[in-house]
Amino acid sequence: MNFELPILAPSILAADFSKLGANIEDAVKGGASWIHCDIMDGHFVPNISFGPSVVKAAKKSAPEAFLDVHLMIENPDDYVEGFVEAGADLISVHYETCPHLHRSIQNIKKYGLMSGVVVNPATSLHNIEPILEEVDLVLIMSVNPGFGGQSFIESSYEKLKQLAQLREEKELSFLIQVDGGVNLKNIQKVADAGADVLIAGSSVFSADDITARVEELTAKMS
Ligand code: DX5
Ligand code: ZN
Repeated sequence: MNFELPILAPSILAADFSKLGANIEDAVKGGASWIHCDIMDGHFVPNISFGPSVVKAAKKSAPEAFLDVHLMIENPDDYVEGFVEAGADLISVHYETCPHLHRSIQNIKKYGLMSGVVVNPATSLHNIEPILEEVDLVLIMSVNPGFGGQSFIESSYEKLKQLAQLREEKELSFLIQVDGGVNLKNIQKVADAGADVLIAGSSVFSADDITARVEELTAKMS
């Protein structure tokens, strides 16, 4: 798939769930072409969010948007099919939850979807080097997963640069995504460090005017 980079991917974790459809439509109106769905199970991360039925509702609200599903759950392989049926276009799994990571990635790919691998802030990129050829996207967590509204961990800039360098050395083409603490102040610096897809939750959905905020964030990163 060809994308115009960089991309802003609003995370609906921070949306007002009593008007989820309207929040998503507002984000799309502002130019958001990706919608990020954070799936949390209360085991891998200390929070519970939502499952396939909400992803399906998001797809219904914005059928033209690319649905990016980030699984922060144990045994992710068991749930992939449900999210595929719900309309996911890309599914990412954490290195930390997949003892058989290669198998987990193949399991996503067999549905014809894009696949991603995610690393926590304390996980070194060396751990995922063997899988880089297999994935369409690598997500660098710039906060410890589980909650929206946390501060961007500064060492993530260096990690983004390292990953971009690794991609060049290996002549690969996976997308580089970053998640957590991206806001109006740092979005430019995060994009400059090498991120292709920037996730933003609270900085998008806490705005009074979601459409204007998406436009503002997008203008700053390009
Ligand atoms: C954290 C989630 C993030 C989160 C980002 O576990 O993966 O996607 O929603 O939220 P903000 O942008 O508020 O840090
Ligand atoms: Zn996420």
